Amino acid sequence: MLIANVSPRTGGKTTNSGWLAHALQEAEKEYEVAGFDADHSQQFHSWSLTGEFTFPVEPAATAKFHTSITLPPGKINIVDCGHTENHPDITNSVLRVADLVILHMSPTKADFDRIIDPPDKTKIGEIIAMSAALREDRTPPPAWVLLNRTISGASSTGLYRDMMEDEGWNVLTTVIPRSEAFGQSVSYPVTGASKGPFGQLVTELEQRGLLK
Ligand SMILES: Nc1ncnc2c1ncn2[C@@H]1O[C@H](COP(=O)(O)OP(=O)(O)O)[C@@H](O)[C@H]1O
Ligand SMILES: [Mg+2]
Repeated sequence: MLIANVSPRTGGKTTNSGWLAHALQEAEKEYEVAGFDADHSQQFHSWSLTGEFTFPVEPAATAKFHTSITLPPGKINIVDCGHTENHPDITNSVLRVADLVILHMSPTKADFDRIIDPPDKTKIGEIIAMSAALREDRTPPPAWVLLNRTISGASSTGLYRDMMEDEGWNVLTTVIPRSEAFGQSVSYPVTGASKGPFGQLVTELEQRGLLK
């Protein structure tokens, strides 16, 4: 399967791609994972080298993702898409073959506005909806919001969860808290991913039947 990590602008995609991949590997079911970096920054790919990941992260910043990338069967493939505001064509291509979309956002007005009411961009929800026409099954992939960089006890988490749900989005119960450990993690090895919120995220994805 292919999980597409998306957001209109910076949203925690790369950080969460690395941690989710490790949490899947460390999960009881010991999922085999492979990464793809569809962002021109190539940070997910670089991180896999400097952080000595035990799975590959292939460069894949191409608007021909759906035809040029061969996804290894039997694995959970994770693609870090880059910002749709800047490179919509790449995400359009990824969405043609994604089995699950995770929209990464902070519970802030800044992120909410760029998702829900961008002044001169296509709304990311509409980008996902429009992908249906070019998908084999003619239906859009399931899409879920992952709130990240949340502050424990802050009202913003519940507020933006409700606001996103009011806008018709599915919002995962699991949230990824703001922490120095996550914020400083890109470039370095990842350990103990399944112990914290990313382990909870894997369990929630399993329970919701979103992993296959
Ligand atoms: N859970 C977190 N807690 C604190 N900082 C975070 C967390 N997740 C990401 N960050 C920081 O937020 C910024 C954006 O994250 P990044 O993963 O690069 O997003 P994107 O790939 O969407 O641009 C980076 O500075 C990163 O270190
Ligand atoms: Mg990134």
